[in-house]
Amino acid sequence: MSDFSSAHRSPGSENRPAHTNRVPDWVYTPTTPLASALAGTGQDHIGPATTVWPTGQESEWAQRQDHYRDYTLAHPRRTRPALATTAIKHFSQPGQTVFDPFAGSGTVLVEAIKAGRRAVGVELDPLWVGLAADNIAFAQYWGATGKAWITRRDARYLDPIPWRLHRGIDLIVTEPPVRLRPVIPGNRCANADLVEYLETDLAMCLSSCSGLLNAGATVVLVVRLLRRSGQTVDLTVPANRAARLSGLDFVERVAALRTPLRDASRSRRPSRMKRRGSGLPRVVHDDVLVYRVPADTPRRWWQR
Ligand SMILES: C[S@@+](CC[C@H](N)C(=O)[O-])C[C@H]1O[C@@H](n2cnc3c(N)ncnc32)[C@H](O)[C@@H]1O
Repeated sequence: MSDFSSAHRSPGSENRPAHTNRVPDWVYTPTTPLASALAGTGQDHIGPATTVWPTGQESEWAQRQDHYRDYTLAHPRRTRPALATTAIKHFSQPGQTVFDPFAGSGTVLVEAIKAGRRAVGVELDPLWVGLAADNIAFAQYWGATGKAWITRRDARYLDPIPWRLHRGIDLIVTEPPVRLRPVIPGNRCANADLVEYLETDLAMCLSSCSGLLNAGATVVLVVRLLRRSGQTVDLTVPANRAARLSGLDFVERVAALRTPLRDASRSRRPSRMKRRGSGLPRVVHDDVLVYRVPADTPRRWWQR
């Protein structure tokens, strides 16, 4: 286990008294995740979400109907199509190229080609590479105009990059996995290790993407609070550190809703967690962290 008291201090923490560092900054303590995201409570490293995207107005099933193969739902951590579309339309123009280094079932790639962008994806698991390729072909059959390319690679080691992709990417939209390195059976790691691995591996991935990205390109990272081993783990902490380590400039934080915005006068059914009596409120949003590649030629962090 790593020593978080020394290795994982937030910027400026060296000036604070030692006792304030006892709880690692990735342990999320507020009880109302969306309200806290909007207020930035306990999240000094990233600040409050300045924008809310209403990406949960339709169920995920309705968002995917007629556009995706049914067995897409077999993928355990899918990104919401509405979130992917909103990010793509906000941060790119038709004809530009969108990249997802953790393509999974291909949601980002499919939404990109439906919006007339070109799409490039990388995925480690051959099962999901096949599914993403199927979803791309399905979308193209139903009229998606963009072209897409998916390949099996470990996103931490993207070098050597095919020459035709050099500086060819205008936008990355991706939801990184909680764990990028293979799971060793029977060896369940502690949350502190998980956070450290994610920071290191995501920084490796973003740095190895640097040869792909145009100066001024946008990088959109989607993360969700993780409830694990009795703790709520705030993955914006390692994701933000990885992005900063890779030399990206922070632009904004967005809260993308997973549930519909409703008329406040309608009575609400208690969430399943509350009905079960766990007392923990549901996480009803994804955190979307937006970064930009600095206008000067992007370079890998170890060359800085
Ligand atoms: C959160 S999911 C992405 C979901 C995807 N956006 C979708 O809608 O299906 C993360 C994906 O990253 C893949 N992955 C894990 N480690 C990886 C690595 N080192 N390189 C590339 N892909 C990896 C996992 O197999 C998983 O499919």
